[in-house]
Amino acid sequence: MFKNDIIKNNLLQQETPLYFYDLRLLEKTLDAAKKAADKRNFHIHYALKANFNDRILSLIQSKGFGADCVSGNEVQKSIDIGFPAEKITFAGVGKSDKEIITALKHKIFAFNVESIQELEVINELAGQVGEKANVSLRINPNVDAHTHHYITTGLDENKFGVPNSELEKAAAVINSCENIHLVGLHFHVGSQITDLNVFKSLCVKVNEWKNWFEERGTYIKVLNVGGGLGVDYKYPDENPIPDFEAYFDIFDKFLERTSQQEVHFELGRALVAQCGTLVSKVLYTKSGVKKNFLILDAGMTELMRPALYQAYHKIEKIGEEIAGVQKLNYDVVGPICESSDCFGKEVELPPCKRGDLIAIRTAGAYGEVMASNYNLRNEIRHYYYE
Ligand code: LLP
Repeated sequence: MFKNDIIKNNLLQQETPLYFYDLRLLEKTLDAAKKAADKRNFHIHYALKANFNDRILSLIQSKGFGADCVSGNEVQKSIDIGFPAEKITFAGVGKSDKEIITALKHKIFAFNVESIQELEVINELAGQVGEKANVSLRINPNVDAHTHHYITTGLDENKFGVPNSELEKAAAVINSCENIHLVGLHFHVGSQITDLNVFKSLCVKVNEWKNWFEERGTYIKVLNVGGGLGVDYKYPDENPIPDFEAYFDIFDKFLERTSQQEVHFELGRALVAQCGTLVSKVLYTKSGVKKNFLILDAGMTELMRPALYQAYHKIEKIGEEIAGVQKLNYDVVGPICESSDCFGKEVELPPCKRGDLIAIRTAGAYGEVMASNYNLRNEIRHYYYE
């Protein structure tokens, strides 16, 4: 799409940097995910943390997805957008009392609880507001997600979930708390997982823990296996839609369950990453001692992933490519006063000049939501392709 001169001319009219959202691609992606999930009677709660742009959320809500939230504000936002309360879950290791009360008052489907103390606090607050809270207990399964260590969450060393050694005690606390009801078990082992075998290992652990509870007479209605399905950052045009069939197939095959038990997913990135592109203008070109620099009007303040995780995002020049032009290597950097403000080193691009448009692809997930106004930057701008 970014090789198209019509798109280029439209974008040249806009102030940059901006987040370009391809709502047609988003719709196709959502339809593919929903179809693959419905076929197996699986439920998807979209993880708002990946992108909580109103237009994106409205489309996701209209397709019948639930919402997976990690703050009181995300819970409120889901309600405002129109997600039904019975399709909203609230996760996170550090829920404040105020946030818990907000969620209780909205009568959301369930809290994903991460510690014994949190169980006790939710029980107490539910008693105070006269509600009964559904909870899913997050278990840390100690499964290696084989992904960047900053986004792996299911290892013993991570802060998430209740460790195996504490489960006996957690089960006893749940039984003794009057205002909470255990509906499910919750797992999430990491993000940007491209090796589907990781999910197979997760299923083995889920089965073990479900049996552990059932052997003790506790019925588990919901198996929430989290999110984490990765996307193709290298080839966004070739693989714009993740292989949801293959992903769900793993769980269908390896999760032991009865027809009454529900399987829930919390996908974020896989649904929204490819529909977003950060569009930026070249402010300056400069030859350093060893490098050619492209200095953009977008920086780590608009897209932090490369600076934070050395994440790869494909970088392209927008507009029709002229055949036979020799490409150059550029370090593509932003205007922020930090050396880590770099989108890519030695990026091969056609020769660029001041005013050219650059696309930084696959930025729909954990892009706009992680923006900051460091250096007192402008609010994020948008362009919706529909
Ligand atoms: N459920 C839980 C409990 C999570 O912690 C996460 C993501 C998700 C679901 C959604 O995971 P997804 O399907 O999007 O992989 N900022 C990082 C990613 C952080 C992921 C945090 N948790 C990045 O830019 O790569």
